[in-house]
Order: sequence, then structure tokens, then C-alpha cells
Amino acid sequence: MSLDDKIPNNVSLSSDKRLMRALETWQPDFISWWNDMGPAGFQEDQVYLRTAISVDPSGWAHYDYVKMPDYRWGIFLAPPEQDRTIGFGDHIGEAVWQDVPGELRNILRRIIVTQADTEPASVEQQRHLGKSAPSLYDLRNLFQVNVEEGRHLWAMVHLLHQFFGRDGREEAEQLLLRRSGNPDKPRILSTFNEDTSDWLSFFCFTMFTDRDGKYQLASLAESGFDPLSRATRFMLTEEAFHLFVGETGLDRVARRSAQLTKLDPNGDARAQGGVDLPTLQKYINFWFSSAVELFGGEISNNAADFFGTGLKGRYKEEKQAEHTALKDVYLMDVVEDGAVKKQEVALRNAINEVLRDEYVADCERAVRKWNRTLAAEGVTFELSLPDRKFNRSMGIYAGLAFDPAGRLITKEQLEARRGEWLPTAEDRAYVKSLMKPAVEPGACAHWISPPAKGVEGTPLEFEYVKGEGVDRVRRGVA
Ligand SMILES: [Fe+2]
Ligand SMILES: [Fe+2]
Repeated sequence: MSLDDKIPNNVSLSSDKRLMRALETWQPDFISWWNDMGPAGFQEDQVYLRTAISVDPSGWAHYDYVKMPDYRWGIFLAPPEQDRTIGFGDHIGEAVWQDVPGELRNILRRIIVTQADTEPASVEQQRHLGKSAPSLYDLRNLFQVNVEEGRHLWAMVHLLHQFFGRDGREEAEQLLLRRSGNPDKPRILSTFNEDTSDWLSFFCFTMFTDRDGKYQLASLAESGFDPLSRATRFMLTEEAFHLFVGETGLDRVARRSAQLTKLDPNGDARAQGGVDLPTLQKYINFWFSSAVELFGGEISNNAADFFGTGLKGRYKEEKQAEHTALKDVYLMDVVEDGAVKKQEVALRNAINEVLRDEYVADCERAVRKWNRTLAAEGVTFELSLPDRKFNRSMGIYAGLAFDPAGRLITKEQLEARRGEWLPTAEDRAYVKSLMKPAVEPGACAHWISPPAKGVEGTPLEFEYVKGEGVDRVRRGVA
């Protein structure tokens, strides 16, 4: 591992002068993007961050104070697997590719660019959140997520530069030019253009949207294109923390909501200055339904091709019984003659849905955990995930109306109840009104419970962020 190089890496960058020059040309553009679009107001602060110092699974993370622009973004691939072979599709059992097969060049570039684009997008979406952080702990976690998304961009840009020549270099430049939410040059996927400027949305984003990332990365970790597999395997180790931030963040919101619900004579957490549980449910409905779109069409020839050619596997492909996906069918909900029916779809054409199933099950697990928290606090309210058909704008359910339980309803019925199921402008304004910073060491905003424990054995009073930026927030002049 070369940590002292201008670009820290474990890919022997110094032995590939052409690649090194290309990346060294891109690096200042990345830094200027970070300075323009990264966390606003905290670039000079000292943040207690973890940095990769080895890709060893037991000890890759090193914790220390770092100024974010000095973070050691670099290129880290998971160690190569000896004699690795393709584990699925039409090339099963063949040696993995160390270079891009010519006929797969365009789709592979598209896959990498689409993944890459999400990384800077999320940093842009989250750039103003620091000023309303509910605690120093949360502020530090936000910045940890942000710098790691920056590193994920590096991971993908490395592949573009190393394997896609001039096209790759141009794509890498474009990645720094698109802007989340900008109508003229938006990010590629719509969720990555959504407003994420309050902390409830941030926790929903890291819970639901980053979790899509986990499943996309896990299926790319199966790829027959070995450099992509190794890059995404290491990204997954970082991604796990982002999901932790989202899942525990929403758990803490649920806990406080329950406490305030009980405290209020009318059972209204809003009257007590909190997020009421029905509003939390609406945020879950919105972010979950937005994130499930990211898995792509239910019946998809593209997904079948990605699988067949060995580019993108299923989640934990090695645990599947059969690796060609040619022998089975998938029972899919389709709408026919005004009713939801089960239809058999060739498994290979339902690969997106198979991945979405894993995702939905994982989200359901988290909801069960939040409900245990609510029960422990003594409220009877239960949170739930909406059905995956609810509130869709892509795929076979787009243009149809479903209630959160997945029942087909009329568009008029949906419109009449939209405000019960999805956040209204008033709900969003209310949630935004709660976003007052609490950044004294050990303090926590009223609308969310304090975290269970600090970062890496630190006490909750630990000064996770220090400097001018956080001081300005304290003085109310940020
Ligand atoms: Fe990421
Ligand atoms: Fe992430």
C-alpha cells in the first residue's frame, strides 16, 4: 500500500505512468469540485475521521482528526482472489477478465458511470446539512459518509481511466460537471436529484438509498470483470457504515417520537416538538418507494444480458443453487384486466426483481427493529414498509395507482389520500422547522434520541468536529 504517494493506492500506480498522469490531471479537478460542492462551511475544521490504511478486513480503518480537503482519497482494491472464475451466466467457470472484453465495453462503461455518478451526487445533496446537525456525533458521521462517497468516486474513476481510454477520461470529467438537482445538468438517477436538506431525509437516504447502493455493489462484486469486482468489494466495507448511520438514525427518531407521543396528553409528538410517527411513516413511504426504482425494470432484457454475459450477478451468487438462471421462473405481480395477478417470468428476465427482493427483505428487517424500539417505549404504533408497487414512476407499475398495502386503486383514490401516505409540503416545512443545530459536545437535538454509543469507543462528549465552522454554527452565524 502506497499511502505517501500523491494518490494513495494499492494498485502499484507508480508503475503505470500513463494512468498516474491521467489521474493526477483529474485530481485537482476533483479537489476543486469538493471545495465547491462538498460540505459547506466546514472545510477548514478538524474532523475525527477514519481513513483506509490497509485493505485488510480486520484493520483497514485508522481514526484521527483530518481536515476534509486533506482526506486521503485513494484507490484501494480488495485483494485479488487466486484463480477466480466467473460464477454465473453463460461464461460460468471461465477465468475472470483482467481487461474489458471488447463486446462488453459500452455496457460496462455505462454501468460504471451510472454507479460513479451517484457518489458525488449524494455529497451535493447533503452539502448544507452540517449547519443543522442534531449532534457533533451526527455531524462527524455525515462528513465520514461524504468523504467516503468521494472515495467511491475515485474507485470508479480509476476504472474509467485505466480501462476506457479517451472515453473514460471524458466520462470522468463529466462526473464532476453534473450537479444534483440542477435542471440543466442533473445527476443521472432521479433519487440523486431529490431534496435531502433536512436530517430526517438524510437518515432516510442513508437507510434506503445507500442500501440500494449496497445491493448494486454486491451484485457488481460478483462481476466477471475482476477489477470492478475488487473495487466494489472494498467499497462495500465503507458502505456498511453509511447504512448503519441511516438505520440507527431512524431508530433514534422513532424512539424520541414514541417518547414524545407518550408524553403528550393528546398523543401528538408534534405538540411536544418532535417528529410524529405518522410523519415518520410518510418519509419512509417516500424514500423507500424512490429507492426501489433504482433496481430497474421488473422484467428486463438488459438485466438478463448483464447476468448472461457475467457482468452483474445476484446478491451472494455463491449461495444460489443454480447459476445460469435459465431453468427457473419468477412469480411476479403484474396487473391484468384491472387486477394484480401472479405471472411466471423467466428468471433471467427477472434478475432485477430478485435483487429487489433481497433489498426489501433487508428493509423489512430494519422496520421490525424500529417497531421493537416503539414497543419498548410503550406505544402501540407500528411502522411498515409500503408495498414495492406503491408510488412508482418506472417499471411495470408506473402509471398505475396502488395504496401502501399494494392494492390496486384508482388515481382519484390515490390523489385523495396522497397527503396521508406521502409527506405534504406542510410536513416537509414542519420537519425543516425542527432542524436547529445542537453541536455542543455531548448535546443532542430534542427531536432525536442520543446515539447508543460514541464512535470507536469514544465517549459521547467527544469533540468529533472542532474549528471555525462548528464555532460559527454555535454562535448562530453559519
Ligand atoms: Fe458510495
Ligand atoms: Fe454510501
